[in-house]
Amino acid sequence: MQTLIAPSVLAADFANLQRDVEMINRSEADWFHIDIMDGVFVPNISFGMPVLRDIVKHATKPMDVHLMIVDPDRYIETFAKLGANVLTVHYEACTHLHRTLQAIKAEGMQAGVAMNPHTPVHLLQDVIQDIDLVCLMSVNPGFGGQKFIENTYSKVRELRQMIEAKGASTRIEIDGGVTDQNAKALVDAGADVLVAGSFVFRAQDPVATVANLKALTNA
Ligand code: DX5
Ligand code: ZN
Repeated sequence: MQTLIAPSVLAADFANLQRDVEMINRSEADWFHIDIMDGVFVPNISFGMPVLRDIVKHATKPMDVHLMIVDPDRYIETFAKLGANVLTVHYEACTHLHRTLQAIKAEGMQAGVAMNPHTPVHLLQDVIQDIDLVCLMSVNPGFGGQKFIENTYSKVRELRQMIEAKGASTRIEIDGGVTDQNAKALVDAGADVLVAGSFVFRAQDPVATVANLKALTNA
């Protein structure tokens, strides 16, 4: 399977958002990663529906929406209408995770589950077949530009084994601190999708940086 690269718009210049969206359109990136933070589940507030609506107007690639919010069930229909293709909720924010996943799929989206760095992947073993994407947080959610947590590698390997043992087709996404230094090792451990925020947007040439990540991980 091809490794997908999903630049995180959180690291874009919000005063030049159309320019940055068009830059991702032009690049070899596969998805737009959209971080929605509510200031309750995580200690930060990012942006909400009006901003996503305007991103969707200009974007030519799928929307990978990462909800870092409490009680995400309230907004599933809203994000479907806005044009989300993958909708990811946090394991730690869902009391009835199975029900939430079914609700996401009923709206025609792929269903994702994100896990904080401290949450063990084995907690997904009874629901993995219902998940299209697991997003392993490799930093504590809430902010871009943090240092990658090395323990993520063993979580990727364990999750890959679980997916294979269950015969599931779940993708593994890594979110936080991804650079050209860890991208290849993450793919070797079993990752399918790499989110990259500051590494892409703070680069001198973001388009070339995406191309480089793509080449490194699909060699
Ligand atoms: C963190 C977000 C990430 C973040 C990644 O809460 O979920 O998607 O934007 O940013 P970098 O790549 O800078 O760690
Ligand atoms: Zn994210």
